[in-house]
Amino acid sequence: MTSPVLLIIDPAGTIATADPDAPQVSVLDLGVTRGDGVFESIGVVGGRAQALEPHLTRLARSAAMLDLPVPDLDVWREAVLRSIELADDTAPELLVKLVYTRGIEGSASAAPTGWVHLFEAGGFDEERTAGIAVVTLDRGYRSDVRDTSPWLLQGAKTLSYAVNKAALREAARRGADDVIFVSTDGIVLEGPNSTVIALLDGVYVTTPDSLGVLEGTTQAAFFADVESRGGSTAYRAITVDELHAATALWLASSGRQIAPVATLDGEPVAQEPALTAAGVEALLAR
Ligand SMILES: Cc1ncc(COP(=O)(O)O)c(C=O)c1O
Repeated sequence: MTSPVLLIIDPAGTIATADPDAPQVSVLDLGVTRGDGVFESIGVVGGRAQALEPHLTRLARSAAMLDLPVPDLDVWREAVLRSIELADDTAPELLVKLVYTRGIEGSASAAPTGWVHLFEAGGFDEERTAGIAVVTLDRGYRSDVRDTSPWLLQGAKTLSYAVNKAALREAARRGADDVIFVSTDGIVLEGPNSTVIALLDGVYVTTPDSLGVLEGTTQAAFFADVESRGGSTAYRAITVDELHAATALWLASSGRQIAPVATLDGEPVAQEPALTAAGVEALLAR
C-alpha cells in the first residue's frame, strides 16, 4: 500500500511537503467555495508519470480559460516528480492530482492556491476486460458551445465537477457505470471524466476539442499507438446513430486507461477483446 503524498506549492513557487491527513485548505478558498480553479489527474505506472507534458500543457490551457495567473510549469513538473520520489513504495498504479485554485476570497494578494496529491489507484482490471455499462445523457449544450459561449468553460478541466458527479449518479440510477454526454444537436461529446473512442468503418474516431470537450491525453496516446501499428484515426463529429452502430467503443482516461463499452443504453455493444488488450498493454507500458 502506497501512503499518500501531499506537496503544497506556495505563490512564490516553493514546494513543501505537508500532512495529507491534516486540514490544509482555507474555508475561504475559492476552489472550495465556488469550484473556481482547475485540476489534472496524472496516471503513474511503474513509477513513470504518464503524458506529463500534455497534462502540464492542459493545466496551463485550463488556467488561461479561467483567467487564472499563468502556472509555472517547471515548478508543477518538479512537484509531480518529487511526489513520485517521495512515495514510500511503488504500487503498480498511482494517480497524482494537481489542483490550482483562485485562492482566498477577498485576499489583497489574490494569490492562487496549489497542491499536488499522490495516492494509490488501481483495481481497474474488471472494467478494462469485462467492460462497462454506459448511458447517453443530454449535456444541454449545442456542439458549438465553445465558440458561442466560452464563459461556460467547456473544454477546461475546472474543479466544478458537481454536474459530472450528478450525471454519474443518474447513470447509477439507470443501472449503468458511466455516461457519454451528447449535445442538444445530437453530437457525441465525452464522458464525465473520459474521452469517447469509437471504431467506425475500421477507423478509430474521437470528438475534436473544437466541439467543447476536453482534449484527452489517454486518447492521444492510444491514437499514437494505433497509428504506430498502421491503424487509422480521425477527429470528427460523431452522431448518436453512429455511436449505436459502432464496431466497438471505449472510454479513455488517465486512471482506467481504456475501458470497453459493454452496453450502451441497455443494448449490447460488440467487443474487440484483442484490440482492447493490446491498447491497455500499450498504454500501461508508455
Ligand atoms: C471531462 C473529461 N474528458 C476527458 C477526460 C480524459 O482525459 P485524460 O485522458 O487526459 O485523463 C477527462 C479526464 O479526467 C475528463 O474529466
